[in-house]
Amino acid sequence: MTEIYRASASSNIAFLKYWGKKDPVLQWPANDSLSMTLNQLASRTTAFVHDADDHSFQFQGEALDRHHPSFSKVYKHLDYLAKTFHFDQKLSIASSNSFPTGAGIASSASGLAALTIAAMASWTSSASFEDLEEKGFSREQLAHLSRLGSGSAGRSLFGGYVQWQAGSHADKQKILPVYAADHWKLCDTVALFSHSEKSRSSTVAHGDAWTSILFRPRIAGAPERMSAMLKALEARDLSALGPLLETEALEMHAVMMTTRPPQFYITEDAVEFLAAFRRARQEGRFEAYFTIDAGPNIHIIHESSAELVSWLQENFPTLQLLHDRVGDGPSLERGLN
Ligand code: PMV
Repeated sequence: MTEIYRASASSNIAFLKYWGKKDPVLQWPANDSLSMTLNQLASRTTAFVHDADDHSFQFQGEALDRHHPSFSKVYKHLDYLAKTFHFDQKLSIASSNSFPTGAGIASSASGLAALTIAAMASWTSSASFEDLEEKGFSREQLAHLSRLGSGSAGRSLFGGYVQWQAGSHADKQKILPVYAADHWKLCDTVALFSHSEKSRSSTVAHGDAWTSILFRPRIAGAPERMSAMLKALEARDLSALGPLLETEALEMHAVMMTTRPPQFYITEDAVEFLAAFRRARQEGRFEAYFTIDAGPNIHIIHESSAELVSWLQENFPTLQLLHDRVGDGPSLERGLN
């Protein structure tokens, strides 16, 4: 019998975006970010120690080796963790996502968070987060390890609303839960727009941010926007939070569109959708606001609005939607194989 560790971590949607880094090696972001951890859009990862010369990794049932272009960062992350903490054993890892692959939902946040938890639990034989903490790996430390795999993954180590503070130095960064999920049950309805053009990887695109003339003013304005967002969150005030979400997303995309090379993540379909969405809101059909990450999908943030859902069904009957809401954060359990 082999002990097997099962971790699940949900994706998160950034309200105030992490875009651009002060230091790419130390994974030091240019500004503080704020996100909502989701519930169902999750990665589930199992890990166990195996007697082999290398780690093995399966994604949705398919074995992928170290040289796979999209998954080499999984191996790189495992190598980093093993080297840093002197773990000699090799791991067998299997991961899958609850959301359709190729739907344009970024899986690096949930994927790298679940991978970090499952791998660290296997290496330290920890059956729970309490066990991990006893062995010196607190939730915040796991968040920092996850962010080294993919920046936004750090925020998926906590449920509810999470802040990643850049701090005055790379090693003064903090990742902390600001409000638990039950503070405000916000929903995220994701409208999926396909994207045939191959996007630049976010790792490379983060580096391009400095080439946009809009980037420095963006960083300068981030603290003020953060305070306003935190105030709106505290007051559970959607009419205050919503416009901030939209300005923030559009500003990040304005930076992306003005870098060298420019990067357009938002598709024509999505632009048309946004125009109709804004018009309908102005007409008072619903109260909901959009945000967009480094991809073509539109995330619609709302307070479980039935009016929004019926407007979507009426006006975009063929549009693929995923309905999710704020979640409680990752889970970990141990079983026998
Ligand atoms: O974690 P990365 O390197 O994939 O960057 C994520 C960047 C955004 O999703 C666009 C914003 C964010 O804060 O999650």
